[in-house]
Amino acid sequence: MTTPTDRLTPDQLRTLFLFEALDDGQLGWLAEHGRVEQRAAGTVVYAEGEPATCFFVLLRGAVTLSRRVHGDEVVVTRTGQRGVYGGATQAYLDDQAEQVYRNTLRAVDAAEFFVLPAESFAHAVRSWFPMAMHLLEGLFIGMRNAQTIVGERERLLALGSLSAGLTHELNNPAAAAVRATSVLRDRVAGMRHKLAMIADGRLDGRALHTLVELQEEAVARVAAAPQLSPMAAADAEDALADWLAEQRIDAGWDLAPTLVAGGLDEEWLARVRTAVGAADLEAAVRWLTYTVETELLMREIGDAVTRISGLVGAAKQYSQLDRAPYQVVDVHDLLDATLVMFKGKLPAGVRLVKEYDRGLPPVPAYAAELNQVWTNLIDNALGAMGEKGTLTVRTGRDGDLLAVEIADTGPGIPADVRPRIFEPFFTTKPVGTGTGLGLDISYRIVVHKHHGDIRVESAPGATTFRVLLPLTAPASDPEPAP
Ligand SMILES: Nc1ncnc2c1ncn2[C@@H]1O[C@H](COP(=O)(O)OP(=O)(O)OP(=O)(O)O)[C@@H](O)[C@H]1O
Ligand SMILES: [Mg+2]
Repeated sequence: MTTPTDRLTPDQLRTLFLFEALDDGQLGWLAEHGRVEQRAAGTVVYAEGEPATCFFVLLRGAVTLSRRVHGDEVVVTRTGQRGVYGGATQAYLDDQAEQVYRNTLRAVDAAEFFVLPAESFAHAVRSWFPMAMHLLEGLFIGMRNAQTIVGERERLLALGSLSAGLTHELNNPAAAAVRATSVLRDRVAGMRHKLAMIADGRLDGRALHTLVELQEEAVARVAAAPQLSPMAAADAEDALADWLAEQRIDAGWDLAPTLVAGGLDEEWLARVRTAVGAADLEAAVRWLTYTVETELLMREIGDAVTRISGLVGAAKQYSQLDRAPYQVVDVHDLLDATLVMFKGKLPAGVRLVKEYDRGLPPVPAYAAELNQVWTNLIDNALGAMGEKGTLTVRTGRDGDLLAVEIADTGPGIPADVRPRIFEPFFTTKPVGTGTGLGLDISYRIVVHKHHGDIRVESAPGATTFRVLLPLTAPASDPEPAP
């Protein structure tokens, strides 16, 4: 350890930029309360997280300031500038802030400091600069609140675009299923009614048997019915309506569209006539029309419900609810799930191009958070392009990194805006539309959480954000779930 070896005179203290405006009385007070201390090359002057007991001003030598980021110690500054300070810099906030060192200070070579106990430093600041104190308190508390808001906004952002995109996408199949179910209920009631007529004995046993067989055949035809073009369908409906009229079946034009959609034609219905006889043809055709219609409705409901469950699957993949936060994932699954969320928000004039390198290995990742990154980048790309353009989502390999690119054909990022886009709260969008947090959040997720990088290249008509992710987990990270 070190022992106080020396004191500074008020005149010496005045040469430090931090103290240059103090009066003689204040300098005298500092000279009395502070000590000069030496530290050998390579020693830790103070360590991040320990109780902050002293305020340090560098007098001689060089130091590094570092912070722990996900277990890695990252050097933030390296300086030999006389007068730089560190340590208990927030002592004047007293119990409004946790009084621990926010970073680690190391002496690079033999260094000398003016050291002031935290309580002396706090006392000096509070009593000499009461107004500045109020301003600093406001600033500090404001920043802390902003940090909290950023954290909440991070979660809300994902949820917000998730629900906006998803509700839109879920609406169509859900409405289709509801509509089809109600028509189906109606048709099934109609069939029950017809069944009563059949049961009355108007069809003999053999004809009934044949009808049931034909019904099975009709069901099979519905399943295999080709999708006709509107024109071909109209022609087929006309021909069938004519045939039905020839058979003296009332309102045949009403039945024809359903029968055609189910793949039933005149030839097939002629077999029905042979089987049941001309007298019962109409009842049989109406019965078979119900069969076809209920089959078509059930298929529609099946399709709608399959789409809904697909969307819910994508939403689950997107939100990663009930999945391990850190796991080995295929980024394409994440990108696809995110793109599903955007389906409803993609303007008709915007083309989506996917260029996936499917040979890429799965990577360790905080999946839900990466989805936020894609969301923010795609949101920006769509915002830049407006109604028209091409959104390209590309994956590839870059050495031992995996690259995901989100490219747009918007106007590009002006040179004077470019250096600021990753700053929190920086936005060029009108008040109330952008918070300016999208890229800040994305940067923190990619760089701080994944030890990756985000780069941007932009020219008018071509802006590309490139996210680089390590292919393997850094040794310091926890094991990702498989
Ligand atoms: N693809 C892009 N093309 C042109 N400019 C972009 C693009 N992406 C980002 N920018 C610029 O960077 C700024 C900051 O983007 P960021 O995503 O951080 O915030 P924002 O989109 O303005 O708001 P928020 O994402 O919070 O809704 C944008 O306002 C815009 O000026
Ligand atoms: Mg944005």
